[in-house]
Amino acid sequence: ELSEGTVRIVKSTIPVLAEHGEEITTCFYQRMFADYPELKNIFNQTNQKAGRQPKALANAVYAAAQHIDDLGAIMPTVMQISEKHRSLNVKPEHYPIVGEYLLLAIKEVLGDAATDNIIEAWGEAYGVIAEAFIEVEKQKYQEAASQKGGWKDYREFRVWKKVKESDVITSFYLQPADGGELAAYKPGQYITIKAEVPGENHTHLRQYSLSDAPGNNYYRISVKREDGTGENPAGIVSTYLHTQVEEGNVFSISAPAGDFYLDTESVNPVVLISGGVGLTPLMSMMKTSMIKEQNRDIYFIHAARNGSVHAFKEDMKQTSKEFPFVKTHIIYDSPDEKDSDYDKEGYIDLAWLQGTVPQDADFYYCGPEGFMKAVHKALKEWNVPVERRNYEFFGPEGSLD
Ligand code: HEM
Repeated sequence: ELSEGTVRIVKSTIPVLAEHGEEITTCFYQRMFADYPELKNIFNQTNQKAGRQPKALANAVYAAAQHIDDLGAIMPTVMQISEKHRSLNVKPEHYPIVGEYLLLAIKEVLGDAATDNIIEAWGEAYGVIAEAFIEVEKQKYQEAASQKGGWKDYREFRVWKKVKESDVITSFYLQPADGGELAAYKPGQYITIKAEVPGENHTHLRQYSLSDAPGNNYYRISVKREDGTGENPAGIVSTYLHTQVEEGNVFSISAPAGDFYLDTESVNPVVLISGGVGLTPLMSMMKTSMIKEQNRDIYFIHAARNGSVHAFKEDMKQTSKEFPFVKTHIIYDSPDEKDSDYDKEGYIDLAWLQGTVPQDADFYYCGPEGFMKAVHKALKEWNVPVERRNYEFFGPEGSLD
């Protein structure tokens, strides 16, 4: 229980910390990685370089601090972040380290303005927030381990099949190397790969959505090779998977996680909208809907650059032929002369959506940043209520609103 004084100090200093947000987080990570280089095995170093992720953690601490006397108000956010943490194997013993370096960074950046009282109050507040996370995550680890076919941390899987889906996307079918059972998952969830890439001096964790319906004797991920453009470097893990991992190879993954999944109880029509490799969780949703809910209209809309990078093209065609309640729509922004089978050239916009799908549907969308912003804006303008707008970003871009 925090004293009134502590709460007051914490709340009144949030604006100062937020103002120096970037300086503090940069300092925090630099010092923490210098003293605990093993944490580089956990944090995404590519995001660190690009300066994207660093802000998310500290901002979440400030947001939590705002509600330090009523943490119940931010429990939904804690649940969400904890889901990711569980999938990344964040453990209780990591929290004091993060706390120590966050305080150290605050002290260093604020200098004399960071009085002992302020540092002490923040130390206490961080402790309360960390406790909430640790408690939620403890339950999540237990759930992951106790379900049928489940496991707690990482488990080795063998690549059973490797299948090229397009010029840039390749699928990997994974089966437990121990020959044991698979845990169930919800369509839309992801796994984390712990990649030990030759030549790299730490492991790389990456999340990939499961791209097939649950209920098979494998997990399938479908990975886009990130070749790198301009200032964006090539993807370390995606290149490794595409060029070095072959059938029979083994790597470790954590149990399925994530809160972006198809609500199979709802009876509304379903509209699945994907951009590029964002189609992977929606493929899983589409396949699940086909199996389970043959009385529910399904719209599967996919935007890609053109046909050569369009994965699962045949799958989509086949599906709409076999299952008349699945309506597929393909949009290319730069079709080439080989492309004939598409419904629209350009980008998704509100007018097109209004002419194509029902407003009273459950919407699920996933894709790169520009695509997400456009779809999000269109659906809001169309007054689709927030509880029927479900989305997941690929990468740490953050908020759409
Ligand atoms: C991601 C908050 C503690 C490791 C995140 C994200 C937030 C967050 C908001 C982004 C979630 C997303 O992208 O969906 C917090 C808060 C913490 C905390 C408020 C303390 C109270 C920790 C600790 C560790 C950790 C102790 C482990 C050392 C990570 C990692 C990611 C992440 C590895 C993924 C992004 C990346 O690789 O850079 N956290 N976190 N976090 N967190 Fe935490």
